[in-house]
Amino acid sequence: MRVLLATASTYGSTKEIADAVSEELRAAAHHVTMHSAEHAGSLEYYDAVVLGSAVYIGRVLTPGRQFAARLAKEFAPKPVWVFASGLKNVTPYPLEAPFTTPKEPPYYAGRYTTFGGFVERDKLSLAERSLIGFVGASQHDERDFDLIRAWAQAVAEEMGALEAAPAPEAAPAPEM
Ligand SMILES: Cc1cc2nc3c(=O)[nH]c(=O)nc-3n(C[C@H](O)[C@H](O)[C@H](O)COP(=O)(O)O)c2cc1C
Repeated sequence: MRVLLATASTYGSTKEIADAVSEELRAAAHHVTMHSAEHAGSLEYYDAVVLGSAVYIGRVLTPGRQFAARLAKEFAPKPVWVFASGLKNVTPYPLEAPFTTPKEPPYYAGRYTTFGGFVERDKLSLAERSLIGFVGASQHDERDFDLIRAWAQAVAEEMGALEAAPAPEAAPAPEM
């Protein structure tokens, strides 16, 4: 499949998750183009989209939300997979439901997978550091790349199955 992998990432740790996802999709022979969600351009060329966004102050980043809204409007009914990265409410079993669809905006329904994220404190402003301390977020790199790669392999398989599925037959012409 021709896949757009779009990311919204402030400090780059979500982008690194997306890099691992793209490696797995490519290993399964999908053609992956990576873009920031903000500069993704036209969606016409793609058969599927994977959107990954960091969560800040309880919400998917604005470019991630805006892009998800764009997908619902411009890309449905083509398939979309969404993941978030954050330090709270990490999805315990991400392999159980890797599929999301733009028909139910994933940023409202919370049906997306949230992977553990990472914050490099040295990169943060003083205000951000105290905010992180306030919410009691982990100070460690919580990204589990084996799990992320397993999720990406499951997504790649679902893409492969969709690709292999026969196109729905055209309805028979009405008799005259
Ligand atoms: C100021 C700040 C606020 C954050 N708020 C949340 C939050 O509300 N929920 C959460 O799960 N993670 C939160 N995080 C953690 C980030 O989502 C996590 O570190 C993520 O991996 C960062 O991704 P990025 O490097 O791609 O920007 C916050 C991090 C910072 C620095």
